[in-house]
Amino acid sequence: MDHFAYQNGALHAEDVALATIAEQVGTPCYVYSSATLRRHAQVFAAGLAAVPAKHIAFAVKSNPNLAVLRLLASEGYGADVVSAGEMDRALAAGIPGADIVFSGVGKTADELTRALKAGVGQFNLESEEEGVELAQIAAGLGMTAQAALRVNPDVDAKTHAKISTGMAENKFGVAYDRAAGIYARLSVLPGLTMRGLAVHIGSQLSQLKPLEDAFTKMGALMRAIRANGQTITHMDLGGGVGVPYKDGENFPTPADYGAMVARVTADWGVTLMFEPGRVIAGNSGVLITRVVRVKEGVTHPFVIVDAAMNDLARPALYGAWHDFWAVTPNGERFTANIVGPICESSDTFAMGREIDVVKAGDLAVFRTAGAYGATMANTYNSRALVPEVMVEGDKWAIVAQRIDPATILAAEQVPDWLK
Ligand code: LLP
Repeated sequence: MDHFAYQNGALHAEDVALATIAEQVGTPCYVYSSATLRRHAQVFAAGLAAVPAKHIAFAVKSNPNLAVLRLLASEGYGADVVSAGEMDRALAAGIPGADIVFSGVGKTADELTRALKAGVGQFNLESEEEGVELAQIAAGLGMTAQAALRVNPDVDAKTHAKISTGMAENKFGVAYDRAAGIYARLSVLPGLTMRGLAVHIGSQLSQLKPLEDAFTKMGALMRAIRANGQTITHMDLGGGVGVPYKDGENFPTPADYGAMVARVTADWGVTLMFEPGRVIAGNSGVLITRVVRVKEGVTHPFVIVDAAMNDLARPALYGAWHDFWAVTPNGERFTANIVGPICESSDTFAMGREIDVVKAGDLAVFRTAGAYGATMANTYNSRALVPEVMVEGDKWAIVAQRIDPATILAAEQVPDWLK
């Protein structure tokens, strides 16, 4: 459920006409609905009502916009970060260090140091080596880091290979069979308090079964570690709950997910940690684009839009589907290819898709673009970095300015020997 809907034939975000935003900000441009973000944050938390002790950390990578983080902070969300840059955003949004979980497979010594000084609440260790390094740095600072060990449960998430993380050959976490030994060795290090385990098997999961399998394995490991005499007070179950991108796709609801989690973890006696990203932000955003022109094709016409793979990378990277709606549809439909202006064939949003009839100058949106949209944008082909807008009722504001190619050019220089 989201708050992008037609009013009198024109697509609105809440009570703001998308055409108004497009006129004033230009296109392409991301638009986020506050009401949708809030609703998703609340529905996800409500789904976990049966879990007695929990901490929900929004996966900042899915949408790191400062205003988005601020809104989620006001809903009581913490942050799951994977770089010092994301940590700084979470802190700037008013999320206390204690509510930040620092994940990521390659945290540098500098990042670990900065995170300790910022009072980060939990470090999710991806290796024994990282744990040893964190312990040394923390001890050197006279501090004790709270840490969880990320375990690779070797479970197939049954999602796109590029966003699957929990199989033995993936780079994430430590091998399941080695985890208890590593946990025991890290537990005795000064500077470190090992408090639990973490797992995240992948993103855009369409079924609960792989998650349940992974959590069940983590429960068994937790018991084995406790039987060895070590302490576990926290279990981090990661993110991964998928969202429908197409009409008619059936996904588990947050309530289904929460019921499964409550059942599997009923006797764990821990604080459960969660790191949802897409399920909170995905449906909360659209990318507005303007049709540059419609060109004749051999099989279908090409709708050339002013958004490209640098603005929304998911179709090019994962073959992902994003619904395409005209902002003021005239009721007619046609079958077309939707492409961006970038000079490679992967800059294709859809082939042979039935869509609203559009012509040069018309506005349209790519839907479900609130997660892994703007955050993955770049400036390929010397295009601008796409701006972002947030809507709240009948109010709206630019929450990230467009960064023009001229600004990017200004950061470059020709060395003396070429002058
Ligand atoms: N926790 C960890 C450790 C993660 O690596 C991720 C996502 C999440 C939480 C949040 O997962 P979510 O709830 O959003 O599924 N760019 C890809 C998705 C990459 C996901 C990376 N990790 C896409 O556009 O589909």
